[in-house]
Amino acid sequence: MKGVILAGRLGTRLYPLTHVTNKHLLPVYDKPMIFYPIKTLVDAGITEVLIVTSGPHVGHFLGVIKNGKELGLTHVEYAYQQKPNGGIADALALAKDFADSEPITVILGDNTTDANIKKAVSSFKDGATVFLREVPDPKRFGVAVFDQKDKSKVIRFDEKPKKPESNMAVTGLYIYDSMVFDYINKCDPNYIGRGELEITQVNNFYIEAGKMTWQELNGFWSDAGTIETLFLASSHWASKDKEK
Ligand code: G1P
Repeated sequence: MKGVILAGRLGTRLYPLTHVTNKHLLPVYDKPMIFYPIKTLVDAGITEVLIVTSGPHVGHFLGVIKNGKELGLTHVEYAYQQKPNGGIADALALAKDFADSEPITVILGDNTTDANIKKAVSSFKDGATVFLREVPDPKRFGVAVFDQKDKSKVIRFDEKPKKPESNMAVTGLYIYDSMVFDYINKCDPNYIGRGELEITQVNNFYIEAGKMTWQELNGFWSDAGTIETLFLASSHWASKDKEK
Protein backbone atom coordinates (compact mmCIF):
# COMPACT_ATOMS: atom_id res chain seq x y z
CA MET A 1 0.00 0.00 0.00
CA LYS A 2 1.07 3.60 -0.56
CA GLY A 3 1.03 6.30 2.12
CA VAL A 4 0.06 9.96 2.25
CA ILE A 5 1.40 12.41 4.82
CA LEU A 6 -0.60 15.60 5.22
CA ALA A 7 1.78 18.37 6.20
CA GLY A 8 0.05 21.59 5.23
CA ARG A 9 -1.51 24.47 7.16
CA LEU A 10 0.25 27.53 8.57
CA GLY A 11 0.78 26.19 12.08
CA THR A 12 -0.62 29.39 13.61
CA ARG A 13 -0.95 27.74 17.02
CA LEU A 14 2.85 27.47 17.02
CA TYR A 15 3.69 31.07 16.08
CA PRO A 16 6.41 32.41 16.31
CA LEU A 17 8.09 29.00 15.76
CA THR A 18 6.30 28.51 12.47
CA HIS A 19 7.58 31.83 11.15
CA VAL A 20 10.91 29.98 10.96
CA THR A 21 9.82 26.87 9.10
CA ASN A 22 6.85 24.62 8.42
CA LYS A 23 5.29 23.09 11.54
CA HIS A 24 6.13 19.57 10.44
CA LEU A 25 9.85 20.31 10.28
CA LEU A 26 10.09 21.66 13.83
CA PRO A 27 11.99 19.44 16.26
CA VAL A 28 10.17 16.87 18.34
CA TYR A 29 12.96 15.87 20.73
CA ASP A 30 15.83 14.96 18.38
CA LYS A 31 14.13 14.78 14.97
CA PRO A 32 12.02 16.91 12.65
CA MET A 33 8.35 16.21 13.47
CA ILE A 34 7.59 14.60 10.10
CA PHE A 35 10.20 11.86 10.69
CA TYR A 36 7.78 10.28 13.19
CA PRO A 37 4.85 9.74 10.80
CA ILE A 38 7.33 8.63 8.13
CA LYS A 39 8.62 5.97 10.55
CA THR A 40 5.06 4.88 11.38
CA LEU A 41 4.46 4.26 7.66
CA VAL A 42 7.83 2.56 7.07
CA ASP A 43 7.24 0.28 10.10
CA ALA A 44 3.90 -0.65 8.54
CA GLY A 45 5.70 -1.68 5.35
CA ILE A 46 4.75 1.49 3.44
CA THR A 47 7.71 2.98 1.58
CA GLU A 48 6.04 4.89 -1.28
CA VAL A 49 4.85 8.19 0.08
CA LEU A 50 3.23 11.43 -1.04
CA ILE A 51 3.78 14.49 1.16
CA VAL A 52 1.13 17.17 0.76
CA THR A 53 2.22 20.54 2.02
CA SER A 54 1.46 24.26 1.76
CA GLY A 55 2.41 27.64 3.14
CA PRO A 56 5.52 29.81 2.87
CA HIS A 57 8.16 27.19 3.78
CA VAL A 58 7.31 24.36 1.37
CA GLY A 59 10.80 24.39 -0.13
CA HIS A 60 12.30 23.31 3.20
CA PHE A 61 10.87 19.78 2.86
CA LEU A 62 13.10 18.75 -0.02
CA GLY A 63 16.26 19.76 1.83
CA VAL A 64 15.27 17.71 4.89
CA ILE A 65 13.64 14.63 3.40
CA LYS A 66 15.49 14.62 0.07
CA ASN A 67 14.63 11.41 -1.78
CA GLY A 68 13.67 9.70 1.48
CA LYS A 69 16.22 6.89 1.24
CA GLU A 70 17.87 7.73 4.59
CA LEU A 71 14.44 7.38 6.20
CA GLY A 72 13.64 4.01 4.65
CA LEU A 73 11.46 5.32 1.83
CA THR A 74 11.79 3.99 -1.70
CA HIS A 75 9.76 6.75 -3.41
CA VAL A 76 8.72 10.25 -2.35
CA GLU A 77 6.44 12.69 -4.14
CA TYR A 78 5.42 16.15 -3.06
CA ALA A 79 2.14 17.96 -3.72
CA TYR A 80 1.33 21.61 -3.08
CA GLN A 81 -2.00 22.55 -1.50
CA GLN A 82 -3.02 25.94 -2.85
CA LYS A 83 -5.10 26.91 0.17
CA PRO A 84 -3.16 26.17 3.39
CA ASN A 85 -6.43 26.29 5.33
CA GLY A 86 -8.47 24.27 2.82
CA GLY A 87 -8.75 21.41 5.29
CA ILE A 88 -7.47 17.87 5.63
CA ALA A 89 -9.88 16.49 3.02
CA ASP A 90 -8.87 19.23 0.55
CA ALA A 91 -5.21 18.24 1.03
CA LEU A 92 -6.02 14.57 0.59
CA ALA A 93 -7.82 15.28 -2.71
CA LEU A 94 -4.36 15.98 -4.18
CA ALA A 95 -3.44 12.31 -3.65
CA LYS A 96 -5.93 10.98 -6.23
CA ASP A 97 -3.46 10.35 -9.06
CA PHE A 98 -0.81 9.07 -6.66
CA ALA A 99 -3.29 6.56 -5.15
CA ASP A 100 -4.11 5.26 -8.64
CA SER A 101 -7.43 3.68 -7.50
CA GLU A 102 -5.68 1.61 -4.78
CA PRO A 103 -6.19 1.91 -1.00
CA ILE A 104 -4.01 4.40 0.87
CA THR A 105 -2.85 4.89 4.44
CA VAL A 106 -3.08 8.54 5.47
CA ILE A 107 -1.32 10.11 8.44
CA LEU A 108 -1.27 13.67 9.68
CA GLY A 109 2.25 15.06 9.71
CA ASP A 110 1.97 16.31 13.29
CA ASN A 111 0.92 12.97 14.80
CA THR A 112 3.58 11.01 16.64
CA THR A 113 2.96 7.48 17.86
CA ASP A 114 4.83 4.30 18.70
CA ALA A 115 1.83 2.15 17.70
CA ASN A 116 2.45 -0.35 14.93
CA ILE A 117 -0.35 -0.40 12.34
CA LYS A 118 1.22 -3.04 10.08
CA LYS A 119 -1.49 -5.64 10.72
CA ALA A 120 -4.32 -3.18 9.99
CA VAL A 121 -2.58 -2.13 6.77
CA SER A 122 -1.89 -5.65 5.51
CA SER A 123 -5.38 -6.95 6.33
CA PHE A 124 -7.24 -3.91 4.90
CA LYS A 125 -9.74 -4.82 2.17
CA ASP A 126 -12.09 -1.95 1.46
CA GLY A 127 -14.04 0.91 3.02
CA ALA A 128 -12.24 2.89 5.70
CA THR A 129 -10.45 2.16 8.96
CA VAL A 130 -9.84 4.81 11.59
CA PHE A 131 -7.78 4.53 14.77
CA LEU A 132 -9.36 5.77 17.97
CA ARG A 133 -7.73 6.69 21.23
CA GLU A 134 -9.08 7.59 24.66
CA VAL A 135 -8.14 11.18 25.52
CA PRO A 136 -8.74 13.48 28.50
CA ASP A 137 -9.64 16.46 26.27
CA PRO A 138 -11.94 15.16 23.46
CA LYS A 139 -13.20 18.67 22.56
CA ARG A 140 -9.94 19.21 20.63
CA PHE A 141 -10.57 16.31 18.25
CA GLY A 142 -12.93 14.38 16.05
CA VAL A 143 -14.90 12.26 18.54
CA ALA A 144 -16.67 8.90 18.10
CA VAL A 145 -20.36 8.64 19.00
CA PHE A 146 -21.27 5.04 19.87
CA ASP A 147 -24.55 3.18 19.51
CA GLN A 148 -26.38 3.11 22.86
CA LYS A 149 -27.01 -0.64 22.62
CA ASP A 150 -23.95 -1.86 20.72
CA LYS A 151 -21.10 0.03 22.37
CA SER A 152 -18.58 -1.13 19.78
CA LYS A 153 -20.52 0.43 16.91
CA VAL A 154 -19.67 3.99 15.88
CA ILE A 155 -22.76 5.76 14.56
CA ARG A 156 -21.15 9.14 13.87
CA PHE A 157 -18.07 11.27 14.35
CA ASP A 158 -18.39 14.80 15.70
CA GLU A 159 -15.64 17.31 14.88
CA LYS A 160 -14.47 19.28 17.92
CA PRO A 161 -17.83 18.93 19.73
CA LYS A 162 -18.68 21.34 22.53
CA LYS A 163 -20.25 18.42 24.42
CA PRO A 164 -18.35 15.27 23.42
CA GLU A 165 -20.45 12.10 23.57
CA SER A 166 -17.41 9.94 24.30
CA ASN A 167 -13.73 10.40 25.11
CA MET A 168 -12.60 8.35 22.11
CA ALA A 169 -10.76 10.71 19.76
CA VAL A 170 -10.12 10.07 16.08
CA THR A 171 -6.35 10.05 15.71
CA GLY A 172 -4.74 11.33 12.55
CA LEU A 173 -4.29 7.89 11.02
CA TYR A 174 -6.71 6.56 8.44
CA ILE A 175 -6.87 3.83 5.80
CA TYR A 176 -9.15 4.49 2.83
CA ASP A 177 -10.20 2.75 -0.34
CA SER A 178 -10.51 4.76 -3.55
CA MET A 179 -14.07 5.89 -2.69
CA VAL A 180 -12.45 8.51 -0.49
CA PHE A 181 -12.02 10.83 -3.48
CA ASP A 182 -15.74 10.64 -4.37
CA TYR A 183 -16.62 11.46 -0.78
CA ILE A 184 -14.20 14.41 -0.70
CA ASN A 185 -16.01 15.80 -3.76
CA LYS A 186 -19.24 15.72 -1.74
CA CYS A 187 -17.76 17.60 1.24
CA ASP A 188 -19.30 20.89 2.32
CA PRO A 189 -16.76 23.61 3.32
CA ASN A 190 -19.22 24.83 5.92
CA TYR A 191 -19.68 21.45 7.55
CA ILE A 192 -18.66 22.81 10.96
CA GLY A 193 -18.45 26.43 9.86
CA ARG A 194 -14.67 26.87 9.56
CA GLY A 195 -14.54 26.93 5.75
CA GLU A 196 -12.55 23.68 5.47
CA LEU A 197 -13.21 20.32 3.86
CA GLU A 198 -13.38 18.16 6.99
CA ILE A 199 -12.01 14.62 7.12
CA THR A 200 -14.74 14.00 9.70
CA GLN A 201 -17.40 14.50 7.03
CA VAL A 202 -15.58 12.01 4.79
CA ASN A 203 -15.55 9.52 7.67
CA ASN A 204 -19.26 10.06 8.23
CA PHE A 205 -19.95 9.29 4.55
CA TYR A 206 -18.20 5.95 5.10
CA ILE A 207 -20.38 5.27 8.18
CA GLU A 208 -23.54 6.06 6.17
CA ALA A 209 -22.36 3.60 3.52
CA GLY A 210 -21.75 0.93 6.22
CA LYS A 211 -18.08 0.83 5.27
CA MET A 212 -16.33 2.18 8.36
CA THR A 213 -14.36 0.08 10.84
CA TRP A 214 -12.27 1.26 13.77
CA GLN A 215 -9.46 0.02 15.95
CA GLU A 216 -8.03 1.33 19.17
CA LEU A 217 -4.53 2.75 18.75
CA ASN A 218 -2.23 1.27 21.38
CA GLY A 219 0.89 2.80 22.89
CA PHE A 220 1.83 6.47 22.91
CA TRP A 221 0.00 8.86 20.62
CA SER A 222 -0.04 12.64 20.54
CA ASP A 223 -0.33 15.41 18.03
CA ALA A 224 2.38 18.05 18.29
CA GLY A 225 0.49 20.99 16.86
CA THR A 226 0.28 23.20 19.95
CA ILE A 227 3.04 24.44 22.24
CA GLU A 228 1.74 22.10 24.98
CA THR A 229 1.57 18.99 22.80
CA LEU A 230 4.87 19.78 21.06
CA PHE A 231 6.45 19.80 24.51
CA LEU A 232 4.54 16.69 25.59
CA ALA A 233 5.58 14.73 22.51
CA SER A 234 9.22 15.84 22.87
CA SER A 235 9.24 14.80 26.55
CA HIS A 236 7.81 11.39 25.69
CA TRP A 237 10.40 10.65 23.02
CA ALA A 238 13.21 11.95 25.26
CA SER A 239 12.20 9.63 28.12
CA LYS A 240 11.79 6.73 25.71
CA ASP A 241 15.33 7.37 24.47
CA LYS A 242 16.66 7.17 28.04
CA GLU A 243 15.02 3.74 28.49
CA LYS A 244 17.17 2.29 25.71
C1 G1P B 1 -7.62 17.01 12.97
C2 G1P B 1 -8.97 16.39 12.64
C3 G1P B 1 -9.55 15.72 13.90
C4 G1P B 1 -8.55 14.75 14.49
C5 G1P B 1 -7.19 15.42 14.73
C6 G1P B 1 -6.13 14.39 15.14
O1 G1P B 1 -7.79 18.08 13.85
O2 G1P B 1 -9.83 17.38 12.13
O3 G1P B 1 -10.74 15.05 13.54
O4 G1P B 1 -9.08 14.24 15.71
O5 G1P B 1 -6.74 16.06 13.55
O6 G1P B 1 -4.89 14.99 15.39
P1 G1P B 1 -6.93 19.46 13.65
O7 G1P B 1 -5.50 19.08 13.59
O8 G1P B 1 -7.44 20.06 12.38
O9 G1P B 1 -7.26 20.28 14.86
